[in-house]
Amino acid sequence: MKTRKVVVALGDRSYEITIKRGVLDEAGPLVKGLGLTGRAAVISNPLVFGLYGEQVLKSLKGAGFDAVSITVPDGEEHKNLKELSAIYDSLIAHKMERSSPIVALGGGVIGDMAGFAAATFLRGVPCIQVPTTLLSQVDSSVGGKTGVNHPLGKNLIGSFYQPKAVFIDPDVLKTLDKREVRAGLAEVVKYGVIRDKGFFEFLENSSGKLTGLGPEIEEAIERSCAIKADVVGKDETETGLRSMLNFGHTFGHAIEALSGYGSFRHGEAVSIGMVMASSLSVALGLCAPSVETRVKALFNSLGLPVDPPLIPVDKWIESMKLDKKVKEGKIRFILTEDIGRVALREVREEELRAFLRGLGAVGKA
Ligand code: NAD
Ligand code: GLY
Repeated sequence: MKTRKVVVALGDRSYEITIKRGVLDEAGPLVKGLGLTGRAAVISNPLVFGLYGEQVLKSLKGAGFDAVSITVPDGEEHKNLKELSAIYDSLIAHKMERSSPIVALGGGVIGDMAGFAAATFLRGVPCIQVPTTLLSQVDSSVGGKTGVNHPLGKNLIGSFYQPKAVFIDPDVLKTLDKREVRAGLAEVVKYGVIRDKGFFEFLENSSGKLTGLGPEIEEAIERSCAIKADVVGKDETETGLRSMLNFGHTFGHAIEALSGYGSFRHGEAVSIGMVMASSLSVALGLCAPSVETRVKALFNSLGLPVDPPLIPVDKWIESMKLDKKVKEGKIRFILTEDIGRVALREVREEELRAFLRGLGAVGKA
């Protein structure tokens, strides 16, 4: 079985991402190889634990760990302080020590929450990310953003806390709903658009094969992780460069919020958002119309949505003003200059309104 490795270079906090089919069976020896011993807690949800929990526990126990499991209910609505508190209760009950690793087994919800528990319990215990959705494999498990939601907003409470290692098993994607796989592919495409034309071309050429979860998906995961690792290694705490990972997200977050959370998967909203950002780039004369055409065609061929829902212009503007990139009331976007190259641009409200009105029937108040 081919092993692919990507390093996130952060000095003495550097870590390796291992991508390998069947790597869950090697979790124990790999965690031991990091110099960790003793008790280990696998944090998951009942669905993912039911599928892969025993496999990971067995491997940890086989490598000499006193491995225990902690589950929290499945779903974004449980990524909150109440469930985090329940995790702390279990960690204390299991007498976890400062050297005891937490293994986050699940999608982005579990990864973010277990990662934040690891960042804060006993002022920080080692965290191993074992992402099981495509989105978490190519995005959330890498880069150290951890946290939970607040009733007033997503991910408002959290910290940057890098894991000690990330283990990615592409085989676990076989049990994942195909809609979730496609939603993850939106983030994969994002990496091509923001940073790597060759990777974008690879995705164009293999778009029909990616959801088949063959060798193409392994390649896509590795190249996505390599791009994210490079960006995080250069700007860990998002003082500049890392914000390019938000390409398509300003429109995407507004779509998620305004169409009611749950109507679109995050990746689907971001897919529409990336088409809109490409279209805005063309409208502002920043790139050739072919950029938008290619981005749209790739999402179409991956079965991802490309057309924005009907939202009044004022609502778009109001929602986008809540974006994290807003500075002194001005809306800033990551816009395309070409496939593989983006830039952060401030867009004047009048320009934005004109663009939104110009989307035909869509966006008219
Ligand atoms: P998720 O964690 O809710 O997983 C989606 C669903 O798939 C869940 O029901 C889950 O139980 C199920 N599942 C997971 N793995 C499975 C498998 N192998 N087989 C079958 N079912 C499986 O959703 P997600 O899309 O992975 O993550 C979304 C979260 O990630 C959001 O909370 C978002 O804020 C966060 N996020 C964080 C970062 C970051 O940098 N930290 C980046 C992007 C997103
Ligand atoms: N998902 C965006 C980031 O990690 O910065």
